[in-house]
Amino acid sequence: MAQAEAGNLAEARARVGALHGITDLDHKLHFYERWAPDYDQDVATLQYRAPCLAVDCLTQALPVPPHAALILDVACGTGLVAAELQARGFLQLHGVDGSPKMLEQAQARGLYQHLSLCTLGQEPLPSSEGTFDAVLIVGALSDGQVPCSAIPELLRVTKPGGLVCLTTRTNPSNLRYKEALETVLDRLEQAGAWKRLVAWPVDRWELATSELEMGPGTSDRDGFISGIIYLYRKQDMAQEEGVGPSPQPPADL
Ligand SMILES: C[S@@+](CC[C@H](N)C(=O)[O-])C[C@H]1O[C@@H](n2cnc3c(N)ncnc32)[C@H](O)[C@@H]1O
Repeated sequence: MAQAEAGNLAEARARVGALHGITDLDHKLHFYERWAPDYDQDVATLQYRAPCLAVDCLTQALPVPPHAALILDVACGTGLVAAELQARGFLQLHGVDGSPKMLEQAQARGLYQHLSLCTLGQEPLPSSEGTFDAVLIVGALSDGQVPCSAIPELLRVTKPGGLVCLTTRTNPSNLRYKEALETVLDRLEQAGAWKRLVAWPVDRWELATSELEMGPGTSDRDGFISGIIYLYRKQDMAQEEGVGPSPQPPADL
């Protein structure tokens, strides 16, 4: 590896490692404010694949064609999810995020029709019930970011029969959050609010920030941490069960 490349990787690791260590929402949003101009470069260096994988997962199960679908990207950051959506023909994209500077980067990308400042866990999403064909939240479900208590809010703004796609990391420091998240996801399913279509474990999520992040129960192949993508279909009272076949997760690379 060239010296400059190694330096970039070390810096990106240090920044993301520091971010993962922050468990307080205000501090974390403050960190994103400062990180916004360098975010895309750092996550590219770490080979962060969640936006691409989540959009792949969503696309194969969406009951409407991409150009007709109204999508909400929650915790949109600089708009990496929108870039993946646009590449697959999605045109109607809304985004929300709790960091004004991240939203500025997203705005500059020119892919969203609407962007709003909104801090999940502290305020409701700025949309009415049943607005979106699909809602995604990628890279924001972990300690100090979007709390598990905000999940029903994602469901509220999804149309009946629409999809909700969520991702979280499965490296050691995020396993407690993941467990709490799964409790909420399962409770909503038991209550008949939605149905799980996919739970797709992914080995190569992004490069680990340290050896410690590659602990037991996670993949340490090539220095990557693991993650998981969930896809749910909101209950549609009119149509009830079994709208089309259950999708399979795309093959992991
Ligand atoms: C790791 S970035 C992910 C951005 C984008 N989804 C991606 O995958 O590249 C996490 C984003 O979540 C936002 N965020 C964290 N906690 C939030 C909250 N409670 N409400 C709204 N946005 C939040 C941050 O400002 C940041 O832009």
